[in-house]
Amino acid sequence: MLRVAVLGAGRIGSIHAANVVANTSSKLVAIADPIGDAARNLAERLDCEASLDPIATIERDDIDAVIIGTPTDTHVSLMLHAVSRGKAVLCEKPIDLDIVKVDAAVADINRLGGRVMLAFNRRFDPSAAALRRAIDAGEVGNVHQVIITSRDPGLAPREYLAHSGGIFRDMTIHDFDMARFFLREEPIEVMAFGSRLIDPTLEEFGDFDTVMVQLRTASGKQCHINCSRQAVYGYDQRFEIFGSAGQVLNDNLRSTTIRRWTRSATEVREPLMNFFLERYADAYRLEFEAFAKAVRGNGPMPVTVQDGRQALRLADCALESVLTGHAVKV
Ligand SMILES: NC(=O)c1ccc[n+]([C@@H]2O[C@H](COP(=O)([O-])OP(=O)(O)OC[C@H]3O[C@@H](n4cnc5c(N)ncnc54)[C@H](O)[C@@H]3O)[C@@H](O)[C@H]2O)c1
Repeated sequence: MLRVAVLGAGRIGSIHAANVVANTSSKLVAIADPIGDAARNLAERLDCEASLDPIATIERDDIDAVIIGTPTDTHVSLMLHAVSRGKAVLCEKPIDLDIVKVDAAVADINRLGGRVMLAFNRRFDPSAAALRRAIDAGEVGNVHQVIITSRDPGLAPREYLAHSGGIFRDMTIHDFDMARFFLREEPIEVMAFGSRLIDPTLEEFGDFDTVMVQLRTASGKQCHINCSRQAVYGYDQRFEIFGSAGQVLNDNLRSTTIRRWTRSATEVREPLMNFFLERYADAYRLEFEAFAKAVRGNGPMPVTVQDGRQALRLADCALESVLTGHAVKV
């Protein structure tokens, strides 16, 4: 049994905690959250212990692994504390918003031999994983272009946006990771555009709501990412991988597969799954299974802190490109 504590009883912590409970080879021992009744309420629902003290929870002898689902600015200190106590860690993205801090943390983790997995859940989405298997099997030949469409259904609350670190580091960071996952080469150059077409007041935070990014690898493979904070028709998540022997792509998911034909319209389908907690429910579950398997079997972490670092670097390059109007070398 892998004995797990979840730190942070908010949106993502609740998902992770439920997935630990659903995993038959793991045990959810405790949930820690210093604010209000969040830990107690979630712990009551999932039948485990609650704590207001994340540090004391990390230090418990009966905890093998911790999942960090806390606000981004707490990730590094909690992660390093857990690693220093010999605990395996599944840490939410981004590691931090400051790449200097991230580089120092990665060096510390490596020095301590830390076992940390970055929670880039989209890699574990069954469709995304199938696309990657198709690429690995040579179905598209040499990958030439990856096209990623990633649109949220609506703007996050203003309070969230004020502290998110901006669209590239908060939202597009998933897409930068998926670009690396599908390209299987490091991007070496980034060109990006950013606009405020939905909420002009985002200028107050130096943020954008509509961005397009171009990536290029050393061998010339290309990736195009388009991100919007607001697609009125719902959460739009698509990948297209084009290569010398063909292409593979996925469709958006819906709650059922039915289509309707009426006088006014044909082929009308259900709305898109909304939002990430529903759309990526399987991905979060499979992500935890992969983490638990790696920890139990002492195998390599399926997604590393270096992956988290690289995605953040691409986010920083994209922002620099928007601000300077130039392509930026990674
Ligand atoms: N992978 C994904 O799809 C995904 C989705 C959403 C959020 N996230 C990431 O997860 C993190 C949390 O986001 P959220 O939306 O769940 O936030 P949230 O605000 O809903 O939840 C965060 C919780 O952490 C608690 N907390 C604050 N400081 C803490 C500490 N030191 N120790 C323990 N708990 C603490 C807060 O009280 C709150 O309950 C962020 O880094 C975010 O980028 C990832």
